[in-house]
Amino acid sequence: MDIHDLSDQFPVTRKFNFQDNAAVAPISHRAAQAIRGYAEQAEHSGPVDSEWYNRAHHVRELAAQLLNASTEEITFSKNTSEGLSFVANGLPWHQGDNVVTTAAEFPANIYPWMNLAPRGVQLKTVPEHDGRIPLEQLIDAIDSHTRLVTISAVQFASGFRTDLAALGHACRSKGVLFCVDAIQALGVLPVDVQAMQIDFLSADGHKWLCGPEGAGIFYSRRECLHQLRPSAPGWVCMINAEDFGQYQFEFRPDARRFDSGSYNIAGILGLGGSLELWLELGIDRIARHVLNLTDRLAAGLTRKGYRVISDRSPTHASGIVAFTSDRHDHSQIRRQLRQQHRVIISCRQGRLRASPHVYNTPRQIDELIDLLPAHGSTVACPQHASTSSIAATIPIDRSQASK
Ligand SMILES: Cc1ncc(COP(=O)(O)O)c(C=O)c1O
Repeated sequence: MDIHDLSDQFPVTRKFNFQDNAAVAPISHRAAQAIRGYAEQAEHSGPVDSEWYNRAHHVRELAAQLLNASTEEITFSKNTSEGLSFVANGLPWHQGDNVVTTAAEFPANIYPWMNLAPRGVQLKTVPEHDGRIPLEQLIDAIDSHTRLVTISAVQFASGFRTDLAALGHACRSKGVLFCVDAIQALGVLPVDVQAMQIDFLSADGHKWLCGPEGAGIFYSRRECLHQLRPSAPGWVCMINAEDFGQYQFEFRPDARRFDSGSYNIAGILGLGGSLELWLELGIDRIARHVLNLTDRLAAGLTRKGYRVISDRSPTHASGIVAFTSDRHDHSQIRRQLRQQHRVIISCRQGRLRASPHVYNTPRQIDELIDLLPAHGSTVACPQHASTSSIAATIPIDRSQASK
């Protein structure tokens, strides 16, 4: 498959210059086909002879392959938040324990840990400095009461990519658990749970994986599974799940101990469609393409007088470019790009945020740079070059919603 022309897989590119994958991405054609196939079968044949749960198992295998994990270490979650809560609510905490994270996390990776305060667990946060999270400060924050470090693989508002391998190494050598919110990395940057010594990882599929919302991946390292007690048990999580007449309260030994009941089959099969596509294309190739695009964007923005907040050094660059203007109103820029030119980016935490993916092209990057108001001008966007002449509905404006 030609990585430079994925318009058949992403028909959205025919209507929009969509560079907002760090918010909610369009789903791939492969994901949409899988969901349509499920709906067709469910409508016309019902669950009779269905292979749905076998296919869901295959999706678990694909997720394991993406993460370099084993299938038993993977299960599905509703979203990133739920997977992080599996860990927060599942570990046996002691009064006086603490958790180390950053003060720049998306709230999904804050509230599950704050919720532990009544159990005497403190949340320690390391601040962001100029769009960066210094690794040494995170490591210095670990003390003799620290049980776990939790961090986003890529920060949502700055695009700062954490050196997961270095942090994972520090945690393992200090005997501290390491948990990663991977939603801003999975599907666009390589994540290897073994090489990075990650104990727990959670990510929904609706950003860089280009799957539907509400079908996520949760990973727990095999050696850590027994430490996690599910807080919302149902019937699927038990070792004798199929034996409805015998109640035996014993959790499965694998990650499926978090499967309370029936699956979100439509969502999981959709996620599987995109995982297949990503594994065929190869995450390294995807990462190279996206990093080239974001380098090009960052350079163009700087030339135009914008301040690029994102760290573009090879270790810390990601698919997100956050930038600011001290002359123009960010919300107005975002709105005009969207309404007049069908170019889709976001505003987050006082910054503009662009996040192109593998289906975007250098031409689309140049178009975005071109359309942004120059620093000498007072007008917002220049009135030329719409992305497409095709009439289309503008995507729902989640504008200030913080995803
Ligand atoms: C770093 C990060 N974590 C989590 C989420 C979303 O969490 P959930 O999948 O629970 O909706 C976002 C959404 O923007 C995010 O940027």
